[in-house]
Amino acid sequence: MRLRGKHIILGITGSIAAYKAAILVRLLIKEGAEVKVIMTPLAKEFITPLTLATLSKNPILVDFFNPENGDWNSHVDLGLWADLYLIAPASANTIAKMANGVADNLLLTTYLSAKCPVMVAPAMDLDMYNHPATQKNIKTLQGIGNIIIEAATGELASGLSGKGRMEEPENILSSVVDFFFTSSRFSNKTVLVTSGPTFEPIDPVRFIGNHSSGKMGSSIAESFAQQGARVIFITGPAKFLPSNKNIEIISVQTAEEMFCASTNNFSSVDIAVMAAAVADFTPMNVGNSKLKRETDEISIKLKPTKDIAAYLGKVKSKSQLLVGFALETDKELENAKNKIKNKNLDIIVLNSLNDKGAGFGFDTNKVTIINKKSEILSVELKSKTEVANDIVDFIAEEFDRLRGKG
Ligand code: CTP
Repeated sequence: MRLRGKHIILGITGSIAAYKAAILVRLLIKEGAEVKVIMTPLAKEFITPLTLATLSKNPILVDFFNPENGDWNSHVDLGLWADLYLIAPASANTIAKMANGVADNLLLTTYLSAKCPVMVAPAMDLDMYNHPATQKNIKTLQGIGNIIIEAATGELASGLSGKGRMEEPENILSSVVDFFFTSSRFSNKTVLVTSGPTFEPIDPVRFIGNHSSGKMGSSIAESFAQQGARVIFITGPAKFLPSNKNIEIISVQTAEEMFCASTNNFSSVDIAVMAAAVADFTPMNVGNSKLKRETDEISIKLKPTKDIAAYLGKVKSKSQLLVGFALETDKELENAKNKIKNKNLDIIVLNSLNDKGAGFGFDTNKVTIINKKSEILSVELKSKTEVANDIVDFIAEEFDRLRGKG
């Protein structure tokens, strides 16, 4: 009963593989899960709602409301009820709609309002699967954090043979069980994440800032929260904020405020990830009124800000894990390794400004992750959500080692 108490929505679309959904429902129920099934109208042509209602022990949901009594099937409530939304089989059509935010049936509106992780098992003919449009849509879903259970290779309904078969129900079940294992990996753990830029005021209307959007920090916070952690997210004025019920957001403006919020919370955390692009300098004096354009030249005297990562490195206990970021332009590895030492970090994530598509302003990133023993993991260019998952996996292994589980 590895899924006891888990709430799973199974979304079934119009694909011949829909017949395998019956076996999948049985396997999920046998493992103790509670299953609610949503079908697209076309899915009913491939397998009867009666079969699925009997196996899942719940009424099958297809329409937005029950035509007999007018009761709404609330996609919002469904989305909140579920611990996992599994869409299997997912046809090319439904995948395309999901990737584009189309909401023309209950399966899709529930997808758009679901707060839980989403797993997608594609099923279609090999040419449809290989088509660049489908591949792009699958990449889009992956990029926004959906878990794709890759199609298998074999005989297809069309009589052709190739990649496109929905993965076998037993293997989908294993992915679901693995998912729930990792989703509780950080339960009872608290993680602090700093993110975004800081704005250092010059006068009441101007500031010194930087281009950090907060996307990397936000994706890391989401990934930890999805894996069961309570997250304290301390952010400067950033474009991207995470949204997950396990994340508490503390908004700050300046490096000094970020320092205070971080040090106030640090003693209660197990892991701290310093993803913020903190300003290194701040004006010595902040004007009370707007600086006038009276002279040809002005100079603003700057003083260094407090180094939050270095401070936490000094005060951290043996059981706390501290992760820093480094943005380097030259002698990247050497500088990153020096930062591990100088700030007493356990791990550093190196961004290189020389890599195309990586760093500020991009949706993608390419990083090198290094631990104290100089073990290195190079993460190729991919979406920041996927990079965040790789970073969190690396941190999880290091954390287990630190706590003597590795
Ligand atoms: N950092 C911090 N507080 C600061 C400056 C940096 O916590 N006042 C953290 C960043 O969040 C990052 C790490 O320190 O995790 C390294 O930041 P980076 O700007 O690359 O390094 P600096 O120490 O500022 O060194 P330099 O800019 O000279 O490379």
